[in-house]
Amino acid sequence: MNPWKAAYCRIYQGAFRAALPVLPYRMPRELGTVTDIPETLSGLGISSALLVTDQSIRSLGLTAVLEKAMNEADIDCPVFDGALPNPTFSMIEAALKLYQAHGCGAVIGFGGGSAMDCAKATAARAGCPNRSLKSMSGNLRILHKLPPIFAVPTTAGTGSETTLAAVITDDVTRHKVPMNDFNLIPSYAVLDPETTVGLPKNITATTGMDAMTHAVEAYIGRSTTKETRAWSVEAVQLIVTYLERAYADGSDLEARRQMLRAAYLAGASFTRSYVGYCHAVAHSLGGMYNTPHGLANAVLLPYVLKAYGDSVYKKLKELAVTIGLCGESAPASVAAELFIRKIERMNRNMGIPNKLSGIRREDIYQLSKYADHEGNPLYPVPRLMDRKALEQFYVQVAEDLGEASDAVHAQGLSTREKEDLWKKSKSAAS
Ligand SMILES: NC(=O)c1ccc[n+]([C@@H]2O[C@H](COP(=O)([O-])OP(=O)(O)OC[C@H]3O[C@@H](n4cnc5c(N)ncnc54)[C@H](O)[C@@H]3O)[C@@H](O)[C@H]2O)c1
Ligand SMILES: [Fe+2]
Repeated sequence: MNPWKAAYCRIYQGAFRAALPVLPYRMPRELGTVTDIPETLSGLGISSALLVTDQSIRSLGLTAVLEKAMNEADIDCPVFDGALPNPTFSMIEAALKLYQAHGCGAVIGFGGGSAMDCAKATAARAGCPNRSLKSMSGNLRILHKLPPIFAVPTTAGTGSETTLAAVITDDVTRHKVPMNDFNLIPSYAVLDPETTVGLPKNITATTGMDAMTHAVEAYIGRSTTKETRAWSVEAVQLIVTYLERAYADGSDLEARRQMLRAAYLAGASFTRSYVGYCHAVAHSLGGMYNTPHGLANAVLLPYVLKAYGDSVYKKLKELAVTIGLCGESAPASVAAELFIRKIERMNRNMGIPNKLSGIRREDIYQLSKYADHEGNPLYPVPRLMDRKALEQFYVQVAEDLGEASDAVHAQGLSTREKEDLWKKSKSAAS
């Protein structure tokens, strides 16, 4: 990265770091079970709440207890069950219509990160119907009061139940954009391991590694606090102890409970201390190809940690020591290597591949631009990388880059020409 841009990034990150103690972070209030939701709503004087979930979660019967309890409490509960993985602007608009038609006063996100984010973004639109999602995307651009958000995670991964983020994809550009605003922190969260018991093995594995990525990226970044470091360390310890157990036996309630706690702690940590390039790249892949978020992060994490080189040796050594991979006397470079190998081994043990399919060579320019835009200047990563440097990750993780068009690879194309080619290839494909 050129020195001017690098200096700008570090100053920008320094300002956020300095402001950290006075920023209005808060934890959601924890509710014991979903049946506490109707009573809480009644206490708030709310008689109608939109339930945002996805069809498969609903057809598994996971929302039935809540729907019954809402019915018994005489609280109207329209259901939007169209929150697909990597939710899009149009899904939020559809959910908003239902919210408005029923005169709702609260939103309940019930599902994985996709359903919870869909609920959070719907609340943002409901709080200010005149503003578009696009205008609220980015950092601290919502700035208005939202209806209460209830979050019921059914995966142990994203931590969305405690974060200030909702990550939504623009249907047209396929740009997946985080909306970050304190008003998006849910008011209430229900952490009930029973809701995660039926999670299929592969989703248990990849969502668990998403939580690992949150914990690690927050820990190795340059805007940590004593509190976020402690949360990250505890999350890493829990994930190393319980994720493979939950993977091996989905009905192991203790493992499920501890994974929910790990995801929550990792969420609390990264929402204050940020993620890094792993997430910036993963979001670009989720938006463009619908790559599952956890899968992208799980595969990317070892590559990104290796690319940070000696800038992360010390931090990774601390993590390696806390999970017993080595002692204090180990050289930092060796300890860091052991930690990265541990991540690779966990992935392998849980059937997570070390490559991703579907990445097209001609999309890399645009993907890396999106990742650069997300990561810089905000993420306080241990080593700064510009768009060009980020391209390496797409190449490294791609299973098969497919046929590249000669034009895209012609040397000497200007940035504008590359963009035009990308747009043409997109419109030809659609
Ligand atoms: N807001 C945040 O802070 C934050 C953080 C990280 C990721 N995210 C976003 O969250 C999304 C990913 O969320 P996710 O990884 O939880 O996956 P997801 O919500 O996309 O769900 C993945 C699949 O698992 C299924 N599923 C979920 N719970 C289940 C259960 N208990 N039993 C059976 N099937 C179940 C869903 O139906 C879906 O098909 C991405 O869009 C990502 O960008 C948000
Ligand atoms: Fe994530």
